[in-house]
Amino acid sequence: MEVITKSNYQEMSLLAAKYLLDTVKGKSDAVIGLPTGSTPLGMYSAVVEEYRKNTISFQNVKTFNLDEYIGLIKTDENSYYNFMNTNLFSHIDIKKENIHIPDGMTGDVKKECTNYENKVRQAGSMDILFLGIGKNGHIGFNEPGDFFEPYTHEVQLKQNTINANSRFFENIHDVPTTAITMGIKTILSAKKIVLLAEGESKAEAVAEMVNGKITPRLPASILQLHDNITVIIDKKAAGNL
Ligand code: GLP
Repeated sequence: MEVITKSNYQEMSLLAAKYLLDTVKGKSDAVIGLPTGSTPLGMYSAVVEEYRKNTISFQNVKTFNLDEYIGLIKTDENSYYNFMNTNLFSHIDIKKENIHIPDGMTGDVKKECTNYENKVRQAGSMDILFLGIGKNGHIGFNEPGDFFEPYTHEVQLKQNTINANSRFFENIHDVPTTAITMGIKTILSAKKIVLLAEGESKAEAVAEMVNGKITPRLPASILQLHDNITVIIDKKAAGNL
């Protein structure tokens, strides 16, 4: 696991954006896995800034988001669909049909999970997949538990995840309790993984991920098995290393 510690969030975000931009510059039809959350916001705005300089096109790029809440309509301000549109997709020339996000409003969650998994596979391996990390060590919405779920699946969110994500909602009771997420094998199938973490609140999870035993109790620890992963963190997130 390569760990790069940057002195601040801005530098982290610029480096992460460089990984994304270089992937697309090297392969115009790259397949990219994308996260949501506060952490990748700086990366997305750096990508948009570069796009505005007319140096890059996303016309042939395909994206796959890691996860989506179940039960929020696409236009809900907290849906990951809306997040991606607001922070990235509406600002670049990506084609609508090349954007993939699990459908959290599906009437058949099982079928949607299978379809999503198949779509990821049919696109070929993701050339690069960006991840954040939850305070409890989750990746995507793969929550701590007794075993690793390999494929795209429905997940029951842990109370600490609901508490952490409630900061975006008016009322904690509005936070969905279930979600659809790529599974661990789906995540590990990416050719390259870049994980971002910022701030003291992530320090413990980052240290466990990098130096701890591989355990489903801290899902990100499984990333130790990936051969091409770069972890980009700020000094505070590196505090326990
Ligand atoms: C959410 C997302 C994860 C993300 C995590 C951390 O639960 N499902 O993909 O990595 O939160 O988010 P943040 O970057 O806001 O700390």
